[in-house]
Amino acid sequence: MGFPDLTRLAFAYAVSFGAYWTGMGPRPFSAAYAVTNRCNLRCAYCNTPFMDPTDLSLEQVRSLFDRLHQLGVSRLGLVGGEPLIRKDIGEVVAEAKSRRFYVTFNSNLVLYGRRPEVFEDVDLVFTSLDGDPETHRERRGERSFDGVLDAIAALVARRKPVVAICVVGEADLPQAERLVEQAEKIGFQMHFQPQCLDTEIVRGDLGEHVQSQELRRFWAGLLALKQAGRAIASSAPYLEVQSRWEDFRVSAFHDPRVRCAAGRGFLYVDPQGRAYPCAYTKGKAEPIDLLREDWKSAFPGTTPCTVCNVGPMLEFNLLFQRPFSATADALRRIA
Ligand SMILES: C[S@@+](CC[C@H](N)C(=O)[O-])C[C@H]1O[C@@H](n2cnc3c(N)ncnc32)[C@H](O)[C@@H]1O
Ligand code: SF4
Repeated sequence: MGFPDLTRLAFAYAVSFGAYWTGMGPRPFSAAYAVTNRCNLRCAYCNTPFMDPTDLSLEQVRSLFDRLHQLGVSRLGLVGGEPLIRKDIGEVVAEAKSRRFYVTFNSNLVLYGRRPEVFEDVDLVFTSLDGDPETHRERRGERSFDGVLDAIAALVARRKPVVAICVVGEADLPQAERLVEQAEKIGFQMHFQPQCLDTEIVRGDLGEHVQSQELRRFWAGLLALKQAGRAIASSAPYLEVQSRWEDFRVSAFHDPRVRCAAGRGFLYVDPQGRAYPCAYTKGKAEPIDLLREDWKSAFPGTTPCTVCNVGPMLEFNLLFQRPFSATADALRRIA
């Protein structure tokens, strides 16, 4: 990432941060846009492949990106479903880059070999690795590991920063450490997020034998690895929150003393162009049709929950609530 791009991103974040702390209206610096709910896999904990399969046309995507740009968004996450399923995904990325967004791209990478050129203009790639090949296949399906490590190695060889997300449903620290070792050998980073429950885009539950106490020990172990300088992208404040989380069967709750930055600092847009404060609030908050309405005037300023341990949302909230340590980690991840 070049210096001017980093400066633009830092400026957008500073405006967002200032607006959040002074109680001004929403100034999101980051948006996640689910380009499709469709997917080539059926992971045990994910509901998106079973949701509305309709997508915006490329013309509508252009209007959406114009809206986000006008809103002050500088970082755009292209998520899914599986974005590589969309035949015109290369054009979607090109439209994003032509508006000078810092573009992150989430993909399971199983289809990487068919579309390697799509990643040329992507700034940061997120993928998924849930453990050794057996564990990964158990949780994500028979073909889910096919070619993934080769695709990551190819992206690393192209000098693309890669972060692999591990969804944590079991307190298996030795397995997590093996993932980190593998990341260090190949040249990427690992991010760990708790399996999140009880919202529209996810499905399933934690195994009955899974104890929050064991999970807290697991997250404390990851924090120690992070502090030892291992290849873990998750920020230290984030790992600290996870290591103190009371009940991993509750991913989010409302505490009137706490203010969530979702909607003000960042937002989520579903494949039909409906915006929500974040992906977790889809189905819980009123959607705002971004093709017709303006987020700044339509966002009511409140969220159904205010505290969560949901991977990306907690990291974003920490950028607003504990900015110094969390921002330093984020910069190391993207620079
Ligand atoms: C929805 S997927 C979209 C990108 C792509 N299809 C993939 O799997 O990498 C984005 C990330 O969310 C994770 N995810 C899905 N369901 C989850 C859940 N219930 N809790 C936590 N993370 C989840 C996936 O493993 C993946 O890393
Ligand atoms: S986690 Fe990703 S790959 Fe798995 S079903 Fe969901 S969208 Fe598809």
